[in-house]
Amino acid sequence: MQLIIKDNYKELSKEAAKIVIEQIKSKPNSVIGFATGDTPLGLYKELIKAHKNGLDFSQIITFNLDEYLGLPDSHGQSYNYYMWDKLFNHINIKKENVNIPDGTAFDPEKFCEEYEAKIKKSGGIDLQILGIGRNGHIGFNESGSKFNSRTRIVNLTKQTRKDNAKFFEDINNVPVQAITMGISTILKSKKIILLANGKEKAENIRKLMNESKTEKFPASALKDHPNTIILVDKDAASLLD
Ligand code: PGA
Repeated sequence: MQLIIKDNYKELSKEAAKIVIEQIKSKPNSVIGFATGDTPLGLYKELIKAHKNGLDFSQIITFNLDEYLGLPDSHGQSYNYYMWDKLFNHINIKKENVNIPDGTAFDPEKFCEEYEAKIKKSGGIDLQILGIGRNGHIGFNESGSKFNSRTRIVNLTKQTRKDNAKFFEDINNVPVQAITMGISTILKSKKIILLANGKEKAENIRKLMNESKTEKFPASALKDHPNTIILVDKDAASLLD
């Protein structure tokens, strides 16, 4: 893992955008894995700017990490809605090239198998963007997720539901399950950037950089990956030596 520390969130977002832009310029039909949450919002703003300055997204293929089970695409808190609202509606991406787990799939287990197969058929993910949960999750792979896990249905922990309750009217409205790419699915990506900003992520970044691998701390699976960048701001790096 390579660690890059930037002064602040704006600089972190610009650096992340530089990596994504270089990827798309060197391979216009790149397969990009996108993430949701607060962390990548600055990156997405930078990508929209890059598009206004001429960057072509028409050939990229995307796979999102996860989606709440039970939420339709049109639901304001679905990750499908987030991706279109925050990024895809503002760049020249082709709808048929966008893949986001379907929270209302008729047969979710079959859907997970098909999602995994589709990633493989696309040639695999060239660049995966990741955030890190307050509990160390990547995607919705919560503590205890097997490092060899594939795309599947998972139960969300109380902590994750509490963290995400701010987006719903009431914690009881936060779905209890989700579809997520597995840890082995994520690790198959050719390149990964994990973004983290703010003091509340500092302990997780310290653990990730200084402690050994354990399934109790899902992000630690990245230690085995040959091409991962941990891109953080000074606050998230504040507990590192
Ligand atoms: P956040 O979420 O970007 O909103 O902090 C990260 C995550 O849960 O993976």
